Amino acid sequence: MPYSVFVTRHLTQEAEEKLDGFCQAEYWPEDTPPSYDVLLEKTPTVDGLVCLLTDRIDENLINQAKNLKVISQVAVGVDNIDLEAAAQAGIPVGHTPDLLTDATADLAIALIMAAARRLSEAITYTAEGRWKTWELTTLLGADVHGATLGILGMGRIGQAVAQRGLGFNMDIMYYNRSRVPEAETELGAEYVTLTELLQQADIVSLHVPLNDATRGMIGRDELALMKPNAILVNTARGEVVDTEALVNALNSGQIGYAALDVTDPEPLPPDHELYQLPNAIITPHIGSATRTARNNISLLAVENLIAGLEGRPLPAAAVQPDQDNHD
Ligand code: DGY
Repeated sequence: MPYSVFVTRHLTQEAEEKLDGFCQAEYWPEDTPPSYDVLLEKTPTVDGLVCLLTDRIDENLINQAKNLKVISQVAVGVDNIDLEAAAQAGIPVGHTPDLLTDATADLAIALIMAAARRLSEAITYTAEGRWKTWELTTLLGADVHGATLGILGMGRIGQAVAQRGLGFNMDIMYYNRSRVPEAETELGAEYVTLTELLQQADIVSLHVPLNDATRGMIGRDELALMKPNAILVNTARGEVVDTEALVNALNSGQIGYAALDVTDPEPLPPDHELYQLPNAIITPHIGSATRTARNNISLLAVENLIAGLEGRPLPAAAVQPDQDNHD
């Protein structure tokens, strides 16, 4: 087979069968990511790289990968990849938008429900044998129906969460780099400033990509603007939120609850203070973790890879250098 490919983790069976039918693929066999040194050793020897969001694909690595024809990420977010360096090197970068939108939006809603109705505490309560009778004032939570939902980042996933919010009769407001007319006409979402969103929303759900403008976007000052009972939900990237400021805000009752599928650092070490807080729940970055979504994104990553190896435009490109400039 003409092409060799390094894959930084096992894919779904269907995706591996498709990839193996096309090229010589080596799969990193561990459950944890290959080290940067392994990436540095493998990448220059292959034509294609399939990677995950846990792999640092930086300028140094890209510049040493002289044979590399394509980088194919199995995720929509590509903040772990130096896109500019890839573009400079003429290497297309694939990613997997759309196919995980609904799964991630579903999880955001699950986190909203779990936080508002204190599900984690309620489950622990029964499991610990503390359920003695029906109680009028125990484990009281917040109403989800009719709440004001503030969407920060009105891209595909933000819109899918807003759409679900309508089913709960929520009022939707959003903040985005630029206005999104279809969110306003189709979802009735109101465009507000970031300050207005933080001040008025009962639930703030984060859906921005991680970049220089969004890193640390929710810090001490932003948390101070939020309502005392507000719920912060993060299914985007952990580094959008200043973790220390969040711990302080949760501890002091400045905000009501945090429901996090992503953290900074990630993974969050087992002894981290956030795990001790009664008003925080943490899931291990499972936004797209449905069988269908993970299989579909794996298959799309393989399609992106094959297109890149064959010198065709990628079906879903985060970077698509001009073919004429690609030697
Ligand atoms: C992504 O695709 O960027 C998600 O964070 C992983 O599902």
